Amino acid sequence: MEKGEAAFWSLPTGFETAPQVDLQTERAHPARIYDYMLGGKTNFAADREAGDKVLADWPGSRRATLAARAVMHRMTRRLAQVHGVRQFLDIGTGIPTTPNLHEIAQQVDPASRVVYVDNDPIVLAHSRALLTSAPEGRTAYVSGDLRAPDGFLTDPGLEETLDLTRPVALTLINIVHFMSDEAVRGPVQQLLDVLPSGSFLALTAGTADSAPEHAEVATSRYREAGIETRLRTHAEVKQFFTGLELDDPGVVLVNRWHPELDDSPALADHEVMGYAGIGRKP
Ligand SMILES: C[S@@+](CC[C@H](N)C(=O)[O-])C[C@H]1O[C@@H](n2cnc3c(N)ncnc32)[C@H](O)[C@@H]1O
Repeated sequence: MEKGEAAFWSLPTGFETAPQVDLQTERAHPARIYDYMLGGKTNFAADREAGDKVLADWPGSRRATLAARAVMHRMTRRLAQVHGVRQFLDIGTGIPTTPNLHEIAQQVDPASRVVYVDNDPIVLAHSRALLTSAPEGRTAYVSGDLRAPDGFLTDPGLEETLDLTRPVALTLINIVHFMSDEAVRGPVQQLLDVLPSGSFLALTAGTADSAPEHAEVATSRYREAGIETRLRTHAEVKQFFTGLELDDPGVVLVNRWHPELDDSPALADHEVMGYAGIGRKP
């Protein structure tokens, strides 16, 4: 998106009650900075400026972002192939980027069902790309906030897509580091309480453990752009899985999480700044 392009988006069919949405293009937004770092085009000058500042001080940050996205692909593949998951609730979806989660899940079983949730209007504006389900399956997009699950758990789009009496994978990929413990731990527990036995939590979270200097660059540039981040230690990330059975290989840096499941470039620990893990609700 070039500088000066429209600051308002018309919403896709089905969202006519709110025909226009303020994208606040003058401010950097996490979804759009992430899109820029991944090489996407759904971003504005403020997003690119924030991304360029991170890149200037940490040229490898684009590789780290690609690695953060790639682990989502691998986690989805393992959930579908090894654990037989056919229902996914993906919160903090981000701007669509091929392949999206449902495309990976439906490669394993076209009947897979996915509900996407995000609170950024630009993700809503582009959500049509997330609704390209295989005919045997189903996808839905719901505007919602992870910090307030009641706001989306009873949304018709969710209720018509997921059967909450059967196992669901709750996927929280690259989102919890935008929230404090006070804001996020209660809602994650509430969601896990709603899901039946045999459901999964797949989560990645930013950390400074592996690359403290790079983490300092990223957090301070984000802060300058008005975005607070909360990086977590290994022990703090593991706490999200309390009461769950941790899947192999446990909570590990993203580059170490089943790298055999795709052909992403092998990265050293100091090149990434996130942990990944999957847990099963007993
Ligand atoms: C870095 S992107 C991650 C996108 C995708 N999950 C991935 O890993 O490729 C973080 C996403 O979380 C969304 N997000 C941030 N805070 C949120 C909240 N409280 N509720 C719902 N979505 C949120 C942002 O809008 C953004 O799209």
